[in-house]
Amino acid sequence: MLEKVSLFSNIPPECLYKLEKISSLRKYPKNTILFIEGDDNSQLFVVKKGLVCIHTDDNEGRQLVLNYVGPGEYFGELSLLDGKPRSASATTVEDSNLLTISRENFRGFMQEYPELYEVLMVELANRIRSLTENVKDMALLDVYGRVAHTLERLCNPEVEISPKLTHQDIANMVGASREMVSRVMKELVLGGYIEIQQKQIRIVKSFPKNW
Ligand code: CMP
Repeated sequence: MLEKVSLFSNIPPECLYKLEKISSLRKYPKNTILFIEGDDNSQLFVVKKGLVCIHTDDNEGRQLVLNYVGPGEYFGELSLLDGKPRSASATTVEDSNLLTISRENFRGFMQEYPELYEVLMVELANRIRSLTENVKDMALLDVYGRVAHTLERLCNPEVEISPKLTHQDIANMVGASREMVSRVMKELVLGGYIEIQQKQIRIVKSFPKNW
């Protein structure tokens, strides 16, 4: 399974087999809190099946969703790299099968396969680029623009269709109220730009630049 993870794409299969053997696979039901921002654990998680939400919350229960992580993707690499507490929280949003690799095992593996450092650097660079996009969206776009960009990101050509999302989930991703997001979504459906079936969104035609 690890061969499908971008991080390990350059590692020979027999070595990945070794890594898979020293990692553990566990099933987590939907809505399991895997860790909370500030926690002191540092394994790497790889999603085999299911979906995990990466989020940050304030004391009043408001949530900002930073990412959804699906099959073949990973999270938890920051604490693994710098040994500092978790930078965000992770919760399963579907029943999920996750592979965990301990910091010690992963670091030992990185020493054996230094090419992993380069892949990690490229992936961290991608993350910084996508953070820049997010900051730009938050600062410069109105709610319509933020919803449109978020839907385009979630329904990229590879997946076509989004994970199951409520209007509140989208509001948590774009930093707007549920009511505002519901209004934008309704207009997009009426305009024939998106279809929603069982909470999954499909983009039918390109969104207009402005609303
Ligand atoms: P870590 O800090 O170990 O635990 C939380 C994880 O969430 C973090 O590693 C990353 O894997 C992931 N993460 C943190 N911030 C973001 C972000 N802004 N966008 C996407 N993923 C993130």
